[in-house]
Order: sequence, then C-alpha cells, then structure tokens
Amino acid sequence: MSDRRLNGEFVEQPSLRKKCPKITFIGHFGSGNVGNESTLLAILAQLRARSPESDFRCVCTNPAAAFARYGIKTLAITSRVTRIWDRDAPLARRLPMALVGLGAELGQWGRAFIELEGNDILIVPGTGLVTDAFGLSGWGPYNVFKWVLLAKLRRSKVLFISVGAGPIDSALGRILVRTTLSLADYRSYRDAASSNCLTGIGFSANRDPVYPDLVFGLPEAFLPGDRAPLEDKRRVVGLGLMTYPGKYSAARPRPATYAAYLESLADFAAWLLGQNYDIRLLLGDAEPIVIDDFRSVLQYRLGRYDQDRIIAEPITSVEDVLAEIAATDVVVATRFHNVLTALLLNKPVIAITFHHKCSSLMSQMNLSDYCHDIHRMDTHLLIHQFSKLEEDRQTVKRNIARGVDEARAAVDNQYDVLFGRTDRASTSAASPSQALRHRLVMSFLGRNERIWRRLPPRARDLRPVRAYGAWSHALVCQNVNREMYLGTHFLRNRPALELMRRIVGTKEQGARVKIAVLGCSIGVEVYSILWTLRSDRPDLELAVQALDISPEVVSVAKRGIYSPEASDMVNLPIFVGLTEAERRGMFDWVGEEGRIKAWLREGVTWQVGDASDPSLIESLGRQDLVVANNFLCHMPPPSAQLCLCNMAQLVNPGGHLFVTGVDLDVRTQVAVKLGWEPIPELRAEIHDGDPLVRSDWPWRWWGLEPLDQRRPDWETRYSAVFRVGTDRQPAEQASR
Ligand SMILES: C[S@@+](CC[C@H](N)C(=O)[O-])C[C@H]1O[C@@H](n2cnc3c(N)ncnc32)[C@H](O)[C@@H]1O
Repeated sequence: MSDRRLNGEFVEQPSLRKKCPKITFIGHFGSGNVGNESTLLAILAQLRARSPESDFRCVCTNPAAAFARYGIKTLAITSRVTRIWDRDAPLARRLPMALVGLGAELGQWGRAFIELEGNDILIVPGTGLVTDAFGLSGWGPYNVFKWVLLAKLRRSKVLFISVGAGPIDSALGRILVRTTLSLADYRSYRDAASSNCLTGIGFSANRDPVYPDLVFGLPEAFLPGDRAPLEDKRRVVGLGLMTYPGKYSAARPRPATYAAYLESLADFAAWLLGQNYDIRLLLGDAEPIVIDDFRSVLQYRLGRYDQDRIIAEPITSVEDVLAEIAATDVVVATRFHNVLTALLLNKPVIAITFHHKCSSLMSQMNLSDYCHDIHRMDTHLLIHQFSKLEEDRQTVKRNIARGVDEARAAVDNQYDVLFGRTDRASTSAASPSQALRHRLVMSFLGRNERIWRRLPPRARDLRPVRAYGAWSHALVCQNVNREMYLGTHFLRNRPALELMRRIVGTKEQGARVKIAVLGCSIGVEVYSILWTLRSDRPDLELAVQALDISPEVVSVAKRGIYSPEASDMVNLPIFVGLTEAERRGMFDWVGEEGRIKAWLREGVTWQVGDASDPSLIESLGRQDLVVANNFLCHMPPPSAQLCLCNMAQLVNPGGHLFVTGVDLDVRTQVAVKLGWEPIPELRAEIHDGDPLVRSDWPWRWWGLEPLDQRRPDWETRYSAVFRVGTDRQPAEQASR
C-alpha cells in the first residue's frame, strides 16, 4: 500500500502489486441496462490492462448473464427473492415472513462474509447506484451497505469510483447511504450534482473528487467507426426512448409526463420524416415496450407513415448501442448512456433530461443549450434546438471532441492515481503526484472557464481580469499536450488576405510573384490566397509552392474538390462565412461538392515536407511572400522558434512574412532578434481576424490574447505581418 494525497487528504491506495489481487465489483450488472454494462466493461478493460493477473469477480443482480458476458466469477447480491418490506408481496405472506425472513437475511450476511474471504478490493464502479428511488433492497442502499460493511470486516479496501448519486428520499435510505460511504477508503463522484446531493443528505462529500463517468474510459478498440449514411442518402436521426423512471426523475412523478413525452417525440418524429430524415430508435435497457408505445402514438398522430423509415433494431448489448449510434448522423436521446455514447462517437446530440446527471453531462460538454427537460416537453422548442444543432454541427462536433478528450484524460488520471499507470502511461514522464496535480489544475481551470464565459466583455477588458486571463493561459499551456490539428477554412482571416492583396497590388504589371504557403493543410488557405490576389490582379504571374507535413492533407489539397467530408477531416466547417458570390466565384458546384475553378488551380506546386527542415531553402528557393499560419502553436516554444527562423530564410530581402497561430512570445522574440519590420497596416484587424482563436483565449492553448496597447512591445507583439531582411538593425546589433 502507498499513500497519496487526494483533495488535501491522504488516502491509502489499493495496491495491484500483489501477485493475484482479488477484486470484486458490485452493482446492478447483468441486468440489460446498457449504461451499467458499458461501465463494467470499461472498468474491467482498464483494470485488466493494469493488472492482468487480478482475480476479478462481480456481485450483481443477474450473475448468469454477467458471467456469460464478462467471463468472470459472478454471484448474486442477494439470493433472496421476497422481503418483508416488498409492498408487492401480499400482506398475508409478509407477516409470517418476519421471522423466516430474519433467519434468511442472516444467512445472506453469512454468505456474503464467506464470499469476501481473501478479497483485496471491493469496487462500486460508477453508475447511478447511490439512490433509493428503486427501493432499499436488490441493488439498493441496504445490500450495498451489507457488502461494504462485510468487506471492511474482511480488511478489504472499498472504493466508490465516479458514482452517481440521488435521489435519496427515505430516512432509512439516507442513513444507509451515509454510513456506507463513510466506510469507504475512497470515493469519487461522476458530477458535482451527485456530490451536492450527498452533501444535501448530510454527508460531507465536498472533499471527495469529481471525475467524469467511467464509460469515457471505454477503450477506443470498442468504438466502431462512423457508419452514418453517405451524403447522397437521407440523414439519420437516432431517437432514444425510455420508459419514464418516475421517482428517480421527480419527487412527485405524474403519469401524464410519460404520455406528453411520447406525444412530443411522435410529433417531432413526424416532423423529421417530413424533413426527409430517417429515424433509428435507440434504447438502453430491456424495455421494448416503449417502442410499441411510441409507435402507437405515432400511428395515432400520423395515420399512415412509411414504417421502413423508422428503424428499430434489437438492442441488447453495449455493442448494439454503439453500432446503432454509429449509424446515425445526429442523436436526440433520453437515456443518459445513449447521450454519453453519442458523445463518445462524436455525434451532435440533444439530451431529453430526466435527472440531474443528464444536464450535468451536457454542461460538462458545453452543450447545455441542447438539453430538453422531459417534464416540459415542447415540440416547437425541440425542433428549434434540433435545427440549430444541425446548423452548428461542425462547431458542436469540435466541442464534443475536445470535451471527450478531456473527460478521457481525467478518467485515465483517476485510474493512474488509484492503481498506477499502464504501460502507455508509464512511458510518459509524469509521476503519480504530477498526475494528481494535473488533475487538480484541470478541474480548477474548468471551473474558472465557466465563470469567465459568463463575464460581460467589458469586465474581461479590465486590467486585473486580463492579467488573470494571461496567468490562466500560461497554466493551460503548461498542463496540456499540444496536439496537432488540421483545422482550416476558406477566407479564414479576411483582413490578412486584404493586406496581402494590397502588398501584391504594388507589383508591376505582369510581374512574377513567388509565394510559399507552409502548413497548408487541405489547401483551402492556398485557394483563398489565389482567389483574393487573382481576382484583383489577373495580370500577375503567381507561382505558389504549398507544403504540408501530412501526405493525406496534401492529396486532398491537390484535388481541390471539397465535399462536406473535408470539413469532417479538419473538424471545421470549411465553407463557413462564404457569401453566395464567393461560393459561385471560387467553385463549380456538383451538389454539395465544391470544385475549385481551373483558374485558381493554376501555378501551384504541392509538396509534402517539414517546414523545420533546414534544406527547405534549397527545395523552395526565395519567395516574395511566405505564409506560415496556425501550425507553430502546436510546437513546444524552442521548436517553434527554430522553425520560424528557418522559414524566415525563405523570404527575399524586402519580402513579407505572414505568421499567425504562434506563441506570441516566440514570434516577438524572433522578430526582435532578426530585426523584422512589423507592418502596422490592418494590425488590429488581422489580430482579431480569426474570431475562433480569439474567443478560445485563455482556456485553450491556441487561444489568442486580446491586443493590449499598454504593453511596451505591442507593435511587434500584435503584428502578424513583417517585412523581412530590410535595413532595420537586429536588436542585438542595434544595442551594441
Ligand atoms: C491547423 S492547420 C493550419 C492550416 C492553414 N495554415 C490555416 O491556417 O488555415 C496546421 C497544418 O500544419 C501542418 N504542419 C504541422 N507541422 C508542420 C511542419 N513542421 N511542416 C509543415 N506542415 C506542418 C499540419 O499537418 C496541418 O495541416
């Protein structure tokens, strides 16, 4: 055992170093609830990777099904069927059971005590197990209390990992939950709402950490590829249904809620069919009855409809849900894990929220606008939310990808802190204490971001608030891996293109202008430049060398044919913001596919290469204009500095360098050192010319700080365009 500090408290860590540690999971598993099954699947995969020798067992509601599915030893939480407090049993049967029942229950305690012999760790893995909404027995608080208490008596460690809590309404339920949790060696909750719920029943949960749902840790290998239909087919909406969970959802549930829910979804489905969408019905539990209910309401509402356009494949396993959701374009789901699975598969999603866990999850992903309360179904609002989601789908997908990455990293972190790192993780330099620090920093930043985004723009402009933003940005940069992105879109920074037009506009009639575009991604930047310059000066001979390190993007760039899949490839809507005239001027359209016009393709040489390569000057030669946008920021500062110096060598004396998307300290240092002349024209406009990067400051490493004229170096710092190799003295020489 070793001790690690968690949220200010030392907790003893369970060790997996023992030869074959015995690990027992407990929960509502083997039951057909796909959310629960995916949780067990995820934690088993993670722990098997960390400790393949472990002897895993599962105490659950349906041992036979769980054994068949996971191939581990399983046993029932309780082997008793009827209890004195089960109101379904007739009173005549319940009275004599008082005595018999007591004996039988003692037998259950004895059975559990024997089963736990030699157990090292008892784990309650995720799920919304901490509730009394489904009764105290079964997988409710009483039996969990029993197993936890006995595990402690057997000197086993007890861990509640990313569990969901609430509602807990009965007095006995509250006592049992408080007592059980206080016996645990470690507790974490899957959202702040769960932690608050426990605080609300008098358990001080606020010192325990919050980590995302364990299903975010499902290994990538389990996730199917995208099976959404091709572009020429109808788009498919995954429509997730659920029987109304009554007390689990509301303190005073009303039967009318379920009827209103089905009616609203049926109206919505009718609208979808009318809009030429197909529908896939999604479930998450063994509850096909809800499909029948839904179909009857739909039939009643619509009369005749094409039943083939509402697909309802049987869903009985995690794989089924994954496969069904992979075959959709967009999801409107009710079950929590349908929503979560949609996020994992990067599908834009609306959540019909019935419990605080749903709204918490959506808010973690910055998708609160796409929550729809099951108790206030409103078809018009749902249609409005859906239309907005479709319109913003590229941005939403980007946010989801980012949110899922962060959730995955946090889940991995928790496993690392609790059980040690996997081989994957141990190859990186971070120690467990660094991992913990990292987690704390990320959670701190996440909270601060939410507050920041609520601040009015004027408040963000205040000096101390800016300084705080700068400090937060530095913290973000220190704590995240700078992953390479391909993101790009047409006419991305219009003021920069305008300045290019003005610079090139000074050339003589018929002149040859040499331009290098480095890090060109799928080529839309190159065509944007050519469109801007050739529209203005068709007489010039523009010779463009375009280079990127990735062969895949270069081959797309060369073809110059852009379908909506190109947006998916770079995770940004590439046609965003184009006017109708621009769309017509730049492309020949075949359906949704835009083909770059022949006059814009001329004169470009495409190549795969590294902008840091010192032999670049030999292969490309000197240029009048070098464009190096939005890729240096991916590099650690020393590499970015070297690369920037390397690219600057390409610029003809007196030529221009355009460089955005770079660490401002790096750019300023190099510019000052090499004596570049910052161009004041359109400086502020270019700085704000890519709203995406501006709005992401300070919470993303690529975020761009606001222009601040109070800085002494502001003229250089906020210039993205420089004249290179003129007579200006480099700073070092000038100061000598
Ligand atoms: C975010 S995209 C930017 C695309 C485009 N310049 C823009 O601003 O819209 C970054 C591109 O830089 C490329 N890249 C990254 N490092 C590079 C390097 N060392 N040499 C050349 N290209 C690189 C990536 O492959 C990617 O296509």
